[in-house]
Amino acid sequence: MDIDTIVHEEFSKMSLWMPLDAILVSQMEQQCRVYYWTIKGQRPEETLYPGGYNFILDYKRNESYHGFIFLPDFLRGRGYGRELVEARIRICKRTGMKKMIIESTNHSFWKHMGAKKKRGCIYEIGL
Ligand SMILES: CC(C)(COP(=O)(O)OP(=O)(O)OC[C@H]1O[C@@H](n2cnc3c(N)ncnc32)[C@H](O)[C@@H]1OP(=O)(O)O)[C@@H](O)C(=O)NCCC(=O)NCCS
Repeated sequence: MDIDTIVHEEFSKMSLWMPLDAILVSQMEQQCRVYYWTIKGQRPEETLYPGGYNFILDYKRNESYHGFIFLPDFLRGRGYGRELVEARIRICKRTGMKKMIIESTNHSFWKHMGAKKKRGCIYEIGL
């Protein structure tokens, strides 16, 4: 199954998902970058995509890294952040990734998500 299909399948399982949400899989030589933006909470004609998640899937290293997750204030605290992280984990597993490397200063969130601190702002989730 191709990566686009996997990414669409997994993001569309979220309650955050809206039919006009944007998904882009940008292919590079040994890796791809996955982008997801949601229009949740907005009028469809605005399509400003205020929140979402993007990250790299590296087929050579079998690792996912350079992730950035963001939700606007009005979407926070409703379980959508967890849904996004869990969708990334499912995508990583289905595409053969062995670990997710997190670079973030939001220490408490990633600890709560079960990520293990490696050093400084680097966390890891084994898959
Ligand atoms: C981090 C962020 C995506 C979380 O989104 P959210 O929708 O508010 O998170 P959820 O409501 O899904 O919370 C998921 C769980 O994490 C917990 N949680 C949320 N924010 C937390 C924080 N800052 N510290 C500790 N735990 C946190 C929630 O209590 C919840 O716990 P539970 O599922 O066990 O009940 C959002 O706060 C955000 O966009 N922050 C600014 C950008 C950022 O810091 N990004 C991370 C670095 S790249």
